[in-house]
Amino acid sequence: MKVLKNFIPFAAVLCLGGVALGEDTPMEKEMGVMNTAYKALKKSVEDPAQKAENLKLIADIKKTTESTAKMEPKMAADQGAKKAEFLAKYKSEMAEFGKVVDALEAAVKSGDTAAAKAAFVKLGELKKKGHEEFKKD
Ligand code: HEM
Repeated sequence: MKVLKNFIPFAAVLCLGGVALGEDTPMEKEMGVMNTAYKALKKSVEDPAQKAENLKLIADIKKTTESTAKMEPKMAADQGAKKAEFLAKYKSEMAEFGKVVDALEAAVKSGDTAAAKAAFVKLGELKKKGHEEFKKD
C-alpha cells in the first residue's frame, strides 16, 4: 500500500511533466511518420524506377491518414459549442486528403508520372490548408 501511495504522486508528476514539456500528442507522432514518408516521396515520386519504394511510402501515408482521421486535433478542445462542426470539417478534409493519396497510388502503379506529380502537389496544398485550419501553433 505504501508503495502505491508513493507511486501515485510520482506517476502524476511524470504525466504533468510530459504535458509541460510539450510532449508529442499521439496525432503529432502519427503525423511525424507521415512527414518522413512525404519528404522521402518528394525526392522520388517522379522516378518510375523507384515504383516499389514509392508504393511503400504511399502505404505509410495511407496508414497514417486512416489513423489520424480517427483522432481529435488538440485545437478541438478550444471549440466549445462548435466542436462537433470542427471535427466534422476535419474528418471531411482528411477524407479528401485520403482520396488524393489513392489517386497518387493509382498514378504511381500505372507509371503515370505527370498524374503522380499533380497528386503529390495537391497533397502539399491540402496539408497546408489542414494545418492552417486545424493545427494549433
Ligand atoms: C503530407 C501531408 C501532411 C504532413 C507531412 C503533415 C505533417 C505534420 C507534422 C510533422 C505535424 C506535427 C507538427 C508539430 O509537432 O507541431 C502535424 C501536425 C498536425 N497535422 Fe499534419 N501533416 C499532413 C497533413 C495534414 C492534413 C491533411 C491535416 C488535416 C486535414 C493535418 C492536420 C494536422 C493537425 C491537426 C496537427 C496537430 C496535431 C494535434 O493537434 O495533436 N495534417 N502534421
